[in-house]
Amino acid sequence: MIFDFIPESTRAAGLGALMKGAGALTRVLPIPQPTLLVGAGSSRRLGQAVAAFGHGRVLVVTDKVIVGLGLLQGLTEALAEGGCEVVVFDEITPDAPIPLIERGIAAFRDHDCDALVAVGGGSAIDAAKAIAVAIANPGRSLRSLAGYYKGLRTPMSVYAVPTTAGTGSEVTVAAVIADPERRSKLVIVDTRLVPRMAALDPALMTGLPRAITAATGIDALTHAVEAFLGNWATAHTDALALAAVGLIFANLRTACGDGANLQARENMALASTWAGMAFTRANVGYVHAIAHQFGGLYHTPHGLANAIMLPHVLRFSAPAVTARLAQLALRAGLGQEDEGEETLARAFIDGVCRLNDDIGIPTTLQALREEDIPELARAALQEAHAGYPVPLYMTQAQCEAMIRAVLPDEGAAGAVTAKAPRKTRSNPPAKGARASSTRPGAMRTTPASKKTPPRKRRSATQA
Ligand SMILES: NC(=O)c1ccc[n+]([C@@H]2O[C@H](COP(=O)([O-])OP(=O)(O)OC[C@H]3O[C@@H](n4cnc5c(N)ncnc54)[C@H](O)[C@@H]3O)[C@@H](O)[C@H]2O)c1
Ligand SMILES: [Fe+2]
Repeated sequence: MIFDFIPESTRAAGLGALMKGAGALTRVLPIPQPTLLVGAGSSRRLGQAVAAFGHGRVLVVTDKVIVGLGLLQGLTEALAEGGCEVVVFDEITPDAPIPLIERGIAAFRDHDCDALVAVGGGSAIDAAKAIAVAIANPGRSLRSLAGYYKGLRTPMSVYAVPTTAGTGSEVTVAAVIADPERRSKLVIVDTRLVPRMAALDPALMTGLPRAITAATGIDALTHAVEAFLGNWATAHTDALALAAVGLIFANLRTACGDGANLQARENMALASTWAGMAFTRANVGYVHAIAHQFGGLYHTPHGLANAIMLPHVLRFSAPAVTARLAQLALRAGLGQEDEGEETLARAFIDGVCRLNDDIGIPTTLQALREEDIPELARAALQEAHAGYPVPLYMTQAQCEAMIRAVLPDEGAAGAVTAKAPRKTRSNPPAKGARASSTRPGAMRTTPASKKTPPRKRRSATQA
């Protein structure tokens, strides 16, 4: 690739100019925003609304954990009461891979569905988005749809009920899926992928295990921080990112320690959505670029990979963004105005390390192997430099050193806190969390594996 022969210093200057131009474009690009329903019970209200929009049969894209916890009940009852048939595709696994998405596409077609409702974490929402774009563009492989606006036709309507507070996928233009053959992640980007409506229902999150609450919460924090520190930040994205950072520092410890706390859960859900709105406009940075490689090669949960790398990338970027880090510290409640920017910037990075530590995030990545580091760094830099408006350019050697610092053995020396990696604890099911499936017969739904008769077409008023 020609790019590889350009000296790194020239690349840094050229990329800066290129990214500035791209940033100007994102400011004028109209990005739709879903109608948001917020609060306990909002997933039922979303079901009522989707039925009222005139959809005849929806594919609910979810996983077996969500079904087992009975989290579909309010939604599917409301859909059925509104005359909308429901087919449940519950096969989603974390980082949904291409063959699984293909089964979802087949389920949508076999059951003649006309919209998708995703209920789950980022993996379920992204799978629904990928199904939506593939259905609208028949004959196109999922690989060929990866990238910017690769599908000509408008994706099918997607409605989202996030059950983790992390990815913000309910408001973003992206769908991230896994390509197991290439051991990498594919990103489909299209502004028409933004769901039409989303319900932030904290009652669905009370049983989310502590380790997942922690990792997904830091994913949301990373979105806000990278959007705020990158070169595409605007007054609009700054307001969203700062609000998210404030809520996360005020609520993530509580959400991890007391999973049934509805207020903390709702605040984390809001923070995740606002961070999603910020980064879908201002984009992410090196933390995500590296985390995606960990996810592709080792299947490291996305939030965990971000959480481990975030302090390292902040340390590296600090000289270029000291004043911005200071603003983050103030919003996070980690210092006072009169403390000076350098002190505040340090306080923010230390505050992130303390937060990670308090919620059980390890400082090293167990799966990481020394021999993989050069390729991981190369792929991360390729991803970052092709599209992320990073505030300070990183060389291959710097990226390798940063990844090396989280090796399980050497990690302790290079890690950001002196402590050895901790095992994450998982929450016992929170009080009030539903542990069994819904009442028999309550949902009037069809599993995707069964055939359904042709649906009655209803007048299609779009959301
Ligand atoms: N589209 C985007 O803009 C975007 C942004 C960031 C990340 N992502 C992608 O999202 C995926 C990660 O999503 P995630 O972090 O939300 O995790 P996830 O969707 O993979 O879910 C993780 C686990 O949590 C369980 N779970 C989810 N909700 C639960 C609940 N309420 N109670 C109990 N268990 C529950 C799931 O069953 C699953 O086992 C990655 O593929 C990542 O690349 C997408
Ligand atoms: Fe993320």
